[in-house]
Amino acid sequence: MKIAILGAMEEEIFPLLQTLKYDVISHGNNKFYIANYKNHELIIAYSKIGKVNSSLSATIMIEKFGAEILLFTGVAGALNEDLKIGDILYATSLVQHDLDITAFGHPYGYVPGIDVFSKSDVRLNALANDVARKLGINLMSGIIASGDQFVCSKERKEWIKETFKADAVEMEGASVALVCVSLGVPFFILRAISDEASGGAEFDFDKFLVESAKNSADFILKMVDMI
Ligand code: ADE
Repeated sequence: MKIAILGAMEEEIFPLLQTLKYDVISHGNNKFYIANYKNHELIIAYSKIGKVNSSLSATIMIEKFGAEILLFTGVAGALNEDLKIGDILYATSLVQHDLDITAFGHPYGYVPGIDVFSKSDVRLNALANDVARKLGINLMSGIIASGDQFVCSKERKEWIKETFKADAVEMEGASVALVCVSLGVPFFILRAISDEASGGAEFDFDKFLVESAKNSADFILKMVDMI
């Protein structure tokens, strides 16, 4: 099977590249790492941060490289108090918290033609739960809110949490979800918590990025082992 594994930052895919042999193909101002792994062809990339960059990379992975499923790996800020730094969670559904045409009477996160929430693939989510159970890993799940903004204030954090009942915040998941839903490709979005998205989150992010990114990438590879 052709499996796309996408991160936003180099640190988020480095743990994978470190363990694999790969070829590199440049396309669309980005690099795509192609690796054969256990009867699968992996297409690995980091998109660069944000919804536009991640949409572009996800589209290329599917349309040019023929990815049949897409797994996203990376870090997120916690909104739910039960999530601690280093914990991993997958998205059951995703929303764009910075999409705002409320001036026209619409809800936050809505534009005509799309649903506010994109639902992830139930079979990949079930597989993740199986992997976690077998390996004794604590895997959580919830709503992930994405926006082109690093959230590091209590006010913005509380607003996102209340408005969308979201559990974690990051900058790519919802756009990748939209691409995958639009192109009919099952997707799975995994994040490890790097910070708590409130005052000073930027310091925790810098401190825990590498460690949390590895938690997420290691789990993704364990999922691939069971596909
Ligand atoms: N990714 C990791 N932490 C984040 C935060 N606080 N806001 C947005 N994206 C993030």
